Amino acid sequence: MITFSSVSKTYEDGTQAIRKLDFTIQAGEFFVLIGPSGCGKTTTMKMINRLIEPTEGKIFLHDREIHTFDVQELRWNIGYVLQQIALFPHMTIAENIALVPEMKKWRKRKISDRIDELLHMVGLDPATYRERKPSELSGGQQQRVGVIRALAADPEVILMDEPFSALDPLSREQLQQDIRNLQQEIKKTIVFVTHDMDEAMAIGDRVCLMKNGETIQIDTPQNMILHPANDFVREFIGDRKSSWLTAVDVMSEAKSPHLLSIHDLEAGNASSILPLYITEEDGSLAGRIVEGSMIRERIPIVPNDMRLAQALPLFEQHQVEALPVVKDSKVVGILSYRTIMHYFMKKHEKEINKV
Ligand SMILES: Nc1ncnc2c1ncn2[C@@H]1O[C@H](COP(=O)(O)OP(=O)(O)O)[C@@H](O)[C@H]1O
Ligand SMILES: [Mg+2]
Repeated sequence: MITFSSVSKTYEDGTQAIRKLDFTIQAGEFFVLIGPSGCGKTTTMKMINRLIEPTEGKIFLHDREIHTFDVQELRWNIGYVLQQIALFPHMTIAENIALVPEMKKWRKRKISDRIDELLHMVGLDPATYRERKPSELSGGQQQRVGVIRALAADPEVILMDEPFSALDPLSREQLQQDIRNLQQEIKKTIVFVTHDMDEAMAIGDRVCLMKNGETIQIDTPQNMILHPANDFVREFIGDRKSSWLTAVDVMSEAKSPHLLSIHDLEAGNASSILPLYITEEDGSLAGRIVEGSMIRERIPIVPNDMRLAQALPLFEQHQVEALPVVKDSKVVGILSYRTIMHYFMKKHEKEINKV
């Protein structure tokens, strides 16, 4: 969808902001650019809608080099949300949202319907908010309008440069949730800049970590936590393992001593360590062994996407040391209490060392 091919940028004063960027953002992907201040995130983003021109290399949108588009047309098809809420203060909310659709010469009726639809989408009642001025909205509400204004003319790509960083933590978390839901609904390609790793983890399909104008690692949040490319990544991620990992990230695969197929059980292939959980031939959960016999009822499980911190109480509740991890009603692995503790201890160790 968006491809950077050997893209570099040196500013007029000689600052080398970006060095040889090479990556592709997939259609419909939520792609997060992250890194310390000054690492080149904004420069990278602004090159996509040609607010900044690269000094070397090429950028492609749908396999078309971006200079082959009319620049106005390109910008209308790329929504843009800034850190500072950039609503026009003298215009109403409705007028602010209507800006790009009007430039694109949509019909009045269509624009009006679109305004209502978008306001509904982010939980602002059109009857109340359409005619208000931006100053009559809270910061969080204004930034919601900033987001839907970028979506108004149905662009394929949306660029967001630290859109939530000026907000209080509560509004911020709410908006992260909103934008994530919105993304799943509208399936747009979103390029999102942040310097906050928690935010990146919460919303990104893939995260691109930058340093001094170069990409250090591009990966899913989970892979970045589990397989950091180097110490810089490790440090940037910090102590987030236990809070962001889910059951499926740290479980052992389905061939654990705690898991056995019903076929193997009947064939008498149970190893000396008695397995706790038994699966049917199709991989679904059949039962568990309690005091030597199999029971088929009330089998506790961990859903694959459950966070470790949420899974932990289940072990105490059911008085077990391992639980099956289930995805789409199939057992995909086993999560043990010890594994979770391992991740929590690592976090803890670091905190102790800091003191
Ligand atoms: N217009 C400019 N002229 C000269 N240097 C610039 C300009 N804009 C940004 N820079 C420099 O380029 C580097 C990358 O900046 P930027 O892309 O804004 O980083 P980030 O968004 O990650 O904080 C920084 O060193 C910054 O000072
Ligand atoms: Mg920036």
